Amino acid sequence: MENNKNRENDSEVKNKDFNRRNFLTTSILAGAGLALSPFSGETANKPRILNEKKHHPLKKGKRKLGSLEVSAQGLGGLSVVGFYTGGPREQANVNRIYREAYEMGITLFDTAEVYGPFINEKQVGEAVAPFRKDVVLATKFGFDVDPDTGQRRGIDSRPKTIRKSVEGSLKRLRTDYIDLSYQHRVDPNVPIEDVAGTIQDLMREGKIRHWGLSEPGLKTVRRAHAVQPLTAIQNEYSPWTRNPEAEVLPLCEELGIGFVPWCPLGYGFFADAINENSRFSEGDFRAILPRITPENIPQNLEMLYYIQEWGLKKDATASQITLAWLQAQKPWVVPIPGTSNIIHLKENIGANDISFTSDELQEFNAGLAKIEILGAQNAEGVMTAMGVEAPKK
Ligand SMILES: NC(=O)c1ccc[n+]([C@@H]2O[C@H](COP(=O)([O-])OP(=O)(O)OC[C@H]3O[C@@H](n4cnc5c(N)ncnc54)[C@H](OP(=O)(O)O)[C@@H]3O)[C@@H](O)[C@H]2O)c1
Repeated sequence: MENNKNRENDSEVKNKDFNRRNFLTTSILAGAGLALSPFSGETANKPRILNEKKHHPLKKGKRKLGSLEVSAQGLGGLSVVGFYTGGPREQANVNRIYREAYEMGITLFDTAEVYGPFINEKQVGEAVAPFRKDVVLATKFGFDVDPDTGQRRGIDSRPKTIRKSVEGSLKRLRTDYIDLSYQHRVDPNVPIEDVAGTIQDLMREGKIRHWGLSEPGLKTVRRAHAVQPLTAIQNEYSPWTRNPEAEVLPLCEELGIGFVPWCPLGYGFFADAINENSRFSEGDFRAILPRITPENIPQNLEMLYYIQEWGLKKDATASQITLAWLQAQKPWVVPIPGTSNIIHLKENIGANDISFTSDELQEFNAGLAKIEILGAQNAEGVMTAMGVEAPKK
């Protein structure tokens, strides 16, 4: 990536200049302790509530995942753990980012046992300690991780593994309850009823308050929800990965479950952080992503350019348009962009001020649909664990 840095810096400067008004205003006010929450006037798209009874009414600037109130945008932890570049960030910087995020109205912080592994939960635990009771900590179980070496030994949602994972998360997060605990991937060897039953026990013990599934099969969602109602589904969703729209979002709507898009910015692609000169070094996860290979980037950039055109119309950056578009889908969709950079954080939060009318949404979607995207949604190993149905009990 090093040879790419200048190029990226150039485009970053362009991008930032392009819409600096928005977030400079916010940050200056925030610095002076005068800023209204950027969420305080959640504007326009401001989505029609299609199923008010199941999806609890919105408060201004907030959204509901099931019955859990969160900010309209969350913060993902993969960037600060150095999943993409640079290794785990200095704790002082992590504290600064998370605390700035909180000051700006973000109350949903997403992490997982395997981010690091173990490292991101510790980073988050320290960063949010001063205001822990005021935020929603979302973490994930579902892998067998060697506690000494951190080696990930495979998918594992046996009840004893869930318990071990939850106890570890509580310690690392410096808390006595997890607000939202997700199964990271469906375990093809463990009936979901057993997972839901274990979660119920942990809820009775006060250790977990809400639960969710990540990349589950649809039947598994219904079975899990029947035992213990789900609060959120967390799946990949962004302008080039729109498959949740076909079946998962309608199912969430039917059951009153919230939806949390992961990789909402396409690993930074829709934040203008990747271009035709980008090359990813060995060990950088992006090196195995089919849509950002040297062969596929030039064609796929058409989608970024399209989003940037909309940015020109709406005085916004590509990342802001992308996040606002996700938020405009449903009032219970809450993207969790990941960042290790405070300027990016402020830029992303600016999405809360951008709205789409339903005509604009239709027009935007029609344009997206015309752009051919080359390469599979994700790396093969990631995709085989998506949409898995748990075995029958
Ligand atoms: N459930 C699951 O299986 C699953 C899988 C993957 C991720 N997740 C969760 O979802 C969160 C979001 O996904 P993600 O972090 O992988 O991908 P993402 O949010 O789509 O993109 C993150 C990348 O974009 C860059 N970026 C963010 N904002 C930017 C901006 N305004 N300008 C330029 N670059 C920007 C970040 O770099 P900088 O640090 O330089 O800003 C980082 O490299 C994760 O952090 C994690 O919490 C869940």
